[in-house]
Amino acid sequence: MDSSNGRLQQPTKRLTETDAWQALGERHAVLAATSLNQLFADDPRRFERMSLSAGGLVLDYSKNRLDGTTLSLLTALAAERGVDTARDAMFAGRPINNTERRAVLHTALRQSAGVRHDANGVDVMPDVLAVRARMLDFAEAVRDGRWTGHAGDAITDVVNIGIGGSDLGPCMACEALAGRRRGRLTIHFVSNVDGEQLAAVLDRVEARRTLFVVASKTFTTLETMTNAASARAWFLAHGGQAADIAKHFVAVSSNAARVREFGIDEANMFGFWDWVGGRYSMWSSVGLPIALAIGAEGFRALLDGAARMDRHFVEAPLAANMPVILASIGLWYRAFFGTASVCVVPYAQALARLPAYLQQLEMESNGKSVSCDGRQVGVATCPVVWGEPGTNAQHSFFQLLHQGSDPIPVDFIMPLEVGHGLPGHQRLLLANCIAQSKALMVGKSEAEVRAELSTAGLAGEALELLVPHRVFAGNRPSNTLVLPDLSPASLGALIALYEHKVFVQGVLWGVNSFDQWGVELGKQLAGRIAAELDGGAVGPHDASTRGLLDLARSGLARASSRGAS
Ligand code: F6P
Repeated sequence: MDSSNGRLQQPTKRLTETDAWQALGERHAVLAATSLNQLFADDPRRFERMSLSAGGLVLDYSKNRLDGTTLSLLTALAAERGVDTARDAMFAGRPINNTERRAVLHTALRQSAGVRHDANGVDVMPDVLAVRARMLDFAEAVRDGRWTGHAGDAITDVVNIGIGGSDLGPCMACEALAGRRRGRLTIHFVSNVDGEQLAAVLDRVEARRTLFVVASKTFTTLETMTNAASARAWFLAHGGQAADIAKHFVAVSSNAARVREFGIDEANMFGFWDWVGGRYSMWSSVGLPIALAIGAEGFRALLDGAARMDRHFVEAPLAANMPVILASIGLWYRAFFGTASVCVVPYAQALARLPAYLQQLEMESNGKSVSCDGRQVGVATCPVVWGEPGTNAQHSFFQLLHQGSDPIPVDFIMPLEVGHGLPGHQRLLLANCIAQSKALMVGKSEAEVRAELSTAGLAGEALELLVPHRVFAGNRPSNTLVLPDLSPASLGALIALYEHKVFVQGVLWGVNSFDQWGVELGKQLAGRIAAELDGGAVGPHDASTRGLLDLARSGLARASSRGAS
């Protein structure tokens, strides 16, 4: 730790210069020539050795192309890269987000009374607890009808207007916990500046019974501000008066001045702090839609689930630490097997938005090639994260997972108990999840295919035609994360697990996981181009941009002559 400014000192050795990295390279040569089937045959206790419980979740990482020696080397790498020091610095509120000189303390948002959490030497907990209490009281008042619209009607619809971290977390969690939702509230999410999304929601709601939550950390984001302004105009055009806005618009933000400027009273604002990154903010007042959906008790259970995983991350040794293991396995494939993407397949329709949520969490955090000290990282960093729920995904892209040219590691997410009560479904869902990870691993050999086809009565040319197409190479790795259920506590633990995995990978690669400068250039250019589409002077552009601008202008002109925009 650099004691002069509290920031984290970067390791002097580059990642590829560490002893563990060199040894991992040698280990890879051995493991690349060893099949998963062989690893299981060699060790009947592989599942016991390579599975782990934490925060109520079980991680089975036995179906990965590694062995005990590899795991020890990965642990040594984590130690050499200072993962434990960095973790302690994060929890201690040091300004580890070095380019923005900010602490990173989303973990404090999961804590309850009686603990201290400092950001730059100041205890943040009194503020955290006060805002949480106010936010949860408000949510309960809306839920039980004490908070009404301007005409005295109970609120029936909540429209969350936000994007990125101010949308994906609450949207994912509300969908994931829909089975727990009680009461009359329908929660809608509007994020895209494409007016179709807002228009479709406005078509379905009544102004006098609708509450708009405008969620934006900065309160300057183009999409959110545009949607919020349109929602306000719609509200005023549908029976609301300016004085009624206070009953129908609340803000979630860390920028009080901008909230006031927009016309929302600070009394209707739920704050959070610069030490909460947008993609780490669902535990703050950004989680208001979640509290509105599942109530204060459910929201507290979500926080408690995450806090359990935090404790595990802080207390477990690196070798038995779930986030460290997940992160290390990810790095192992990315660095030594050259895998460029990771697929996340939740076997729960309610987790349909989880891949999108993880895309922001992982790719906005670690999609970087410059390390904290300004040097090039020098190795491949964050893979592309993608996925869809099973079993639907089995009928779309699983062909590629099984027989495509590039092996892609998969994270299977498997909640055990669900609440829908329809007999038979869950058994089939679980069977499919388990079957897919097994099929990816064991594959099907040519000999097996031949035997199967001849049993089915095929021979000669007909058999030969099919054989190569029906062989599965197997040896394709996966993790399976087992959740006892889809409760707020399990979801909290799952999301905290991925947050910490991302943190550990950031430390291993040496990048700052908490800034996102890569989104700025496009934003700046969009602002300029919007002005040009508005009739402003057109700047010097390349031929493609000029051509597209011309097409866009003529499209807008046609729409405007039809009165369509
Ligand atoms: O453009 C990226 C980003 O800054 C994300 O990091 C953030 O979650 C999102 O935009 C929304 O930002 P805000 O909450 O300030 O509107």
